Amino acid sequence: MSSPSRIKRISAPELAARKGGDPIVVLTAYTAPTARILDNHVDCLLVGDSLGMVVYGLETTLAVSVDMMINHGAAVVRGAQHACVIVDMPFASYQESPELAYRNAARIMCETGCDGIKLEGGVAMAGTVEFLARRGIPVMGHVGLMPQSVHAYGGFRIQGKDTAAARQIIDDARAVTDAGAFSLVVEGVMEPVAREITAVVPVPTIGIGASPACDGQVLVTEDLVGMFDGFTPKFVRRYAEFGRDLGAAAAAYADDVRARRFPAPEQCFGAPKADGAEVRQLKS
Ligand code: KIV
Repeated sequence: MSSPSRIKRISAPELAARKGGDPIVVLTAYTAPTARILDNHVDCLLVGDSLGMVVYGLETTLAVSVDMMINHGAAVVRGAQHACVIVDMPFASYQESPELAYRNAARIMCETGCDGIKLEGGVAMAGTVEFLARRGIPVMGHVGLMPQSVHAYGGFRIQGKDTAAARQIIDDARAVTDAGAFSLVVEGVMEPVAREITAVVPVPTIGIGASPACDGQVLVTEDLVGMFDGFTPKFVRRYAEFGRDLGAAAAAYADDVRARRFPAPEQCFGAPKADGAEVRQLKS
């Protein structure tokens, strides 16, 4: 029998217990190297279906498949030793029925080794959240702006601007958390809506474009470091300019190759140095 894993990541119940405490820090990750770099700095790594747009260059998240989520989810789990890893359920993998949701959620849990799944939806998805939660699948909810409904909204738009819309989002939040979600992403809503949801639900709210009223914050890592040039929403703060730096590095490399400055003797095996000596003796 194999021995239990020595890796001790934050579990979904541990994250849930942080309601009202120190702010919860969440970033997206889609690959093992990124997960390894972020792991010690965050409480939770979200393998978001935003990868469809950020990594695959799709216009929306709708074409993301369960297999794509499993491949990226497994990579992130391999890179994470500390943070709770949550994997998004993609469009059409759960909306049809609780049974379909269970089959796909179970696949994602088994084949990635992640700590829970996330799905979008409010009152309409509460029955599905309950079905999964009662069967041992930790569910992170997602209300407000739900990118998988982009066509129903007619674009990516801030939600909850009038009283009726705000009330609906608050009802959605209550329904999903009453159904057993262990935490709740609140995306793209007006500040008073996020404030009220955070006050009325018993689990941590994780905001994205939802004000500091939430119990935690999530951003897409590529937005944070300037690696996604699709568009930059108002709620993003840039902490680095990796996209600009990568372009500059590629330009410098291209110049060096074209001018025969790269590779230099230090990057070669057995090439003569400037003084005529060999950089490295080849074995005969
Ligand atoms: O897909 C994603 O990355 C998300 C977060 C932005 C919350 O759902």
